[in-house]
Amino acid sequence: MQVCATKSEFRRFLDDTRAAGRTVGLVPTMGALHAGHRSLMEAASAECDVVALTIFVNPLQFAPTEDLSKYPRPIERDLELAEAAGVGVVFTPTVEEMYPVPTATTVHLDGLTAPMEGAARPTHFDGVTTVVTKLFNIAGPCRAYFGEKDFQQLAVVRRMAADLDQPVEVVPSPIIREADGLAMSSRNIYLSIEDRAAALVLYRSLLAASELISAGERRASVVAAQLAADIASEPRAALEYAEVVDPLTLEPLDLLDVGTDVRLIVAARFATTRLLDNLGVRAS
Ligand code: PAF
Repeated sequence: MQVCATKSEFRRFLDDTRAAGRTVGLVPTMGALHAGHRSLMEAASAECDVVALTIFVNPLQFAPTEDLSKYPRPIERDLELAEAAGVGVVFTPTVEEMYPVPTATTVHLDGLTAPMEGAARPTHFDGVTTVVTKLFNIAGPCRAYFGEKDFQQLAVVRRMAADLDQPVEVVPSPIIREADGLAMSSRNIYLSIEDRAAALVLYRSLLAASELISAGERRASVVAAQLAADIASEPRAALEYAEVVDPLTLEPLDLLDVGTDVRLIVAARFATTRLLDNLGVRAS
């Protein structure tokens, strides 16, 4: 496995890969790799000739009050996991390498970035779309794998790639859960034992809402209200939002007609840790 610290080395490696007729699967991450990332790397490995992993904790997507300095950076362990998952090349730039001068250019999407995470973290998506555009430009034509765990991020990146004709096919990958249902996240390590147990309310509430839809409930507002009430019934959870949305536009739905694809999306804070979760349902 090749490790590249500079943009030029990483770009050259992937240019040479394509020149040799081999396809590239890009897996952008902030490190602290877990089984969710492993599934992205494995999907990329199954569908592409060479897997390119990027590990970069991007300061632009953290607000000053957020966890940038304490974000976990277990680089040696990440490299071992990457090698075991069949990664061919890893890009591990420093902040100075990615942003040699403060960026004067920001990639901004309207609409999709406004609700949910965008409302809670107003500068977050500009940071994500700017760094992902840079990574796409450095990596070149590829398939790029994003987890459905950050469902809004996936929708934003997919729309950005289409709007800007970026030569990248954005590929979604399903959420990976712990045995008890908690969605894998690099931030789970911040949870106390009590909050870790309480956080199971998120997946439980999603399953209950999915059952409500399967039982014939057509009013999205009723489903959203039940999601919110279930989460609020857990005293350690501070609900941020519970939404029933269209999976592509992320617009809130009104009536769930039979055959409609629906995404249930929730966020809640447990002490200082914000957790996200979501579930896809087809109204039947
Ligand atoms: O999902 C993440 O880990 C990050 O938001 C990403 C896509 C790597 C951009 O920094």
